[in-house]
Amino acid sequence: MDQQKPSRKRIAVIPGDGIGQEVIPQALKVVQASGADVEMSEFDWSADRYLRDGTTVPPDGFAMLARDFDAIMAGAFGDPRVKTNIHAKEILLGMRFKMDLYANVRPVRLLDESLCPLKGVEPKDVDFIVIRENTEGVYTDAGGVFKQGTPDEIAIQEDINTRKGVERIIRYAFDYCEQNTKLDGSPRSRVLMCDKSNAMTHAGSLWQRVFKEVSGEFPQIETQHMYVDALCIQMVRDPRPFDVIVTNNMFGDIITDLAAGLQGGLGMAASGNIHPGQTSMFEPVHGSAPPIAGKNVANPFGAILTAAMMLAHLGLTKEVEKIEAAVLEAVRQKKGTQDIGGTLGTREAGEWVATFVSRR
Ligand code: NAD
Ligand code: IPM
Ligand code: MN
Repeated sequence: MDQQKPSRKRIAVIPGDGIGQEVIPQALKVVQASGADVEMSEFDWSADRYLRDGTTVPPDGFAMLARDFDAIMAGAFGDPRVKTNIHAKEILLGMRFKMDLYANVRPVRLLDESLCPLKGVEPKDVDFIVIRENTEGVYTDAGGVFKQGTPDEIAIQEDINTRKGVERIIRYAFDYCEQNTKLDGSPRSRVLMCDKSNAMTHAGSLWQRVFKEVSGEFPQIETQHMYVDALCIQMVRDPRPFDVIVTNNMFGDIITDLAAGLQGGLGMAASGNIHPGQTSMFEPVHGSAPPIAGKNVANPFGAILTAAMMLAHLGLTKEVEKIEAAVLEAVRQKKGTQDIGGTLGTREAGEWVATFVSRR
């Protein structure tokens, strides 16, 4: 019955809302052009669907993704028509939490000097990775509101940090450091833990203790610590010392938008939501960008680089090299969208990269 070659990878595609619907088709076009042996199935989980029939994720949806697919490629979720953002919560955070995709891996790489707002910073100076805890922290929705709408209203948002959750993300960061090199081929050598343990003492203490303990298993890896506020100024003053950064869910969210600024903006930043050995999900760092949606101006390169990250995760190294080389060339030749100094539209920039890829 199953006539597929066993090597063919099955990808679930969920473009979502706004510019997700524009950049994802470009990423898929580039993947096809690379010759990757993949089979795509698209799902309409989005604000449009929610507004149409009130559903977000079908019953059994996450189990189906885990069972039937090797990876998931997602766009962005968020639509001004859905004020509660409930669909984004159920679809995006649903995948992260219910599929236990505990490591949000966000590479920060500067492809060309022209893209960085910092003076005198070259591509070799920006090559670090943020490993963001992806299933806990203030994102669990623990808490509540009491006496809503009265002058005595109380809102509580709990910050959940479990020993298991903290330990596995810190270990992931050390493993990542041990197993990966920088773009120039030199080894990675340093893991920095970023927290706010001077103010958030309970959670901070757990992170500090676990970091120390796990680092003991990796004596060859240098360790560092920074408070998140100090890390932000360091990132825009001199990003060179960063190598592997590990942090909690919310700090990881914030510092990766800041770090996207070093790469040329949100339109350039890629990410993976990973549980080793299980079906993982890949999405650009940016959101649905409602003001620019539907105008063919969104930068598709973050989504294309995200697709490359997904192929790397699936072991399709040859295809990844072609795609990354094509995006680099497009950036250098200014064959991109306006946000990165080009003149092309979303579709045209995607087409340029796909054509370059298919010729190699
Ligand atoms: P956003 O990332 O959508 O946009 C922030 C800024 O970056 C805007 O100026 C936007 O025009 C620009 N931008 C983003 N992506 C771009 C691209 N590819 N090319 C060119 N410019 C780009 O963040 P926001 O405005 O805070 O959020 C909009 C909606 O997206 C909200 O509903 C938010 O919750 C949601 N969101 C979703 C995700 C996700 O699904 N992973 C991520 C972030 C935000
Ligand atoms: C991201 C986004 C999400 C997050 C939002 C949409 C919930 O900002 O993927 O960075 O905070 O994780
Ligand atoms: Mn974010």
